[in-house]
Amino acid sequence: MLISHDVVIVGSGAAGLYSAYWASTKADVAVFSKLFPTRSHTGAAQGGIGAALGNEEEDKPLWHWFDTVKGGDYLGDQDAQRILCYDAPQTIYELEHFGVPFSRTKEGRIAQRPFGGHTRNFGEAAVRRACYAADRTGHVILHTLYEQCVKQQVHFYSEFQVLDVILSEDKKKCVGIIAQDMLSGETHTVHAKVVVFATGGSCRNFATTSNCQANTGDAFGIILRAGLPLEDLEFVQFHPTGLSGLGILVTEGARGEGGYLTNSEGERFMERYAPTVKDLAPRDMVAQCMYKEVLEGRGIKKTGKIGADDWVYLNLMHLGKEELMKKLPEISDFATTYLGIKPWDEPVPVMPTAHYIMGGIPTDNDGRVKLNAQGDIVEGLYAAGECACVSVHGANRLGTNSLLDLVVFGRRVGLHVAKNVDAIQLGDLPNNPQKRVDDLVDTIKSSEGKERSGALHKELAEIMMSNVSVRRTHETLTEAKEKVLELRKRYQDIGIDDKGDVFNTNLLEAIELGYMIDFSLAQIEGALVRKESRGAHLRLDGPDEEKLPRDDENWMKHTYASLNDDGNIDLDYGTVYLIQDHPEDGWEEELFEKMKPKERKY
Ligand code: FUM
Repeated sequence: MLISHDVVIVGSGAAGLYSAYWASTKADVAVFSKLFPTRSHTGAAQGGIGAALGNEEEDKPLWHWFDTVKGGDYLGDQDAQRILCYDAPQTIYELEHFGVPFSRTKEGRIAQRPFGGHTRNFGEAAVRRACYAADRTGHVILHTLYEQCVKQQVHFYSEFQVLDVILSEDKKKCVGIIAQDMLSGETHTVHAKVVVFATGGSCRNFATTSNCQANTGDAFGIILRAGLPLEDLEFVQFHPTGLSGLGILVTEGARGEGGYLTNSEGERFMERYAPTVKDLAPRDMVAQCMYKEVLEGRGIKKTGKIGADDWVYLNLMHLGKEELMKKLPEISDFATTYLGIKPWDEPVPVMPTAHYIMGGIPTDNDGRVKLNAQGDIVEGLYAAGECACVSVHGANRLGTNSLLDLVVFGRRVGLHVAKNVDAIQLGDLPNNPQKRVDDLVDTIKSSEGKERSGALHKELAEIMMSNVSVRRTHETLTEAKEKVLELRKRYQDIGIDDKGDVFNTNLLEAIELGYMIDFSLAQIEGALVRKESRGAHLRLDGPDEEKLPRDDENWMKHTYASLNDDGNIDLDYGTVYLIQDHPEDGWEEELFEKMKPKERKY
């Protein structure tokens, strides 16, 4: 069946819904999502959304900008980072007026708490910048935006899985998408002037992750197979505090409220590594330090091994039950339910968990998708939120800048679409636009193959976790590449047991696995070739596994990975936008000095 809308949004988290809201003020908008919208993973974001409101103490967007630039280890585009931080306050107030029930100060203002890497006055000390609603911040933003979209009469296609994007032959124009209605199994061509990808995260390709089952990075697979590149995919964030052995998120807000990490000696080890901000150092540093403590035998079980059997402690007892239930009810419940630990009585065992992808679909500052590293644009194609790479997070995202990215750039995309949709012509559909999807579905359904997606997915996630996670070397990455290529061969022999049409998750999981294998290869290749340490990409290729230094001369550049016709990954590189290269009237030397790449110390 042919479906037609002016604007089609793929994904119903905060970025998709904010885009939909603003686009719907001028156009007919439809949201396609494989989940019911309020089940999107934005709902799992806990501790806060960054904005220099200054409600609890003095703060400035300029300081937020500086922290974001430094936190990203100088790989972020500084013009985009400036938009993120300077648009933050007005976006938070718009959300407040939409009805988001933020926690409040005594005076009734939006309450704010400290978070990792956010500082006052260019690194002097931690600052309270994260606006929050207890530890359910993403949940309330998601629900409020959904209500606003319903009010705007946005059309929702829930439980429709998007499986392809339709581009013109030269890839310079987008004309629609292909989506499967999960209930009937019917495949639809969706013809549109504008398509916005806002499909969220992708960390289900790692064995230990805070991401929900749905975060399989489908858009990455779709984009690669359509012949477009992905940017900086090698930068994967490990959140320091996942519940040990499970990966379930324990918000950084817990450390913002005064929680701290200890090793087997009872030592607050972050004081050694980051004397100024201690446990509120950025996530890349804290996760790397936790691994080091465990590997050097100071994990609680002193095994010297990374895995489910060792951890460090997150101490929250001193905060007391009343405070924990008021400010951190969700994580208190998680620790009790999943580990049987009441955090007011005992410390919580934690280890890093794959949480966020800094890279993604390359876009300009209005969310328009780039065709290549030179920055040419695909007309009518946008991306926003975690699946996009604007790039505001560089090599390491600061906590609370994720929700902020979703709403600032989701909103910006919606406004840009509203302004330009009338000028965009509806492109012609190619002959048989569904061919690639029909062939894929037929091949998998008719296969008598012996491989099963559950088992292959587990193997993929284990390879990525052991070889491509917090610590990487030439050997671990080379081994990962060989093993994932081998998995890709075995994937050719995949078969499914459910041959039916209705809600065939067996089929869809097999397709998702194919996407994950493809983009994992892009992640590995980018990491293998990047011979430096930067942010979350830690290369231990020096003598005695010494860390390679950051190499600005050779590696301050964005990776663009694409899938060539032989199924291999091609790499290209694009420039990083530094303000020093683009001086504006009125900017003082002091500002350039602050934003110049330098060694990160906290
Ligand atoms: O720790 C957290 O609450 C997560 C926040 C984030 O990823 O920004």
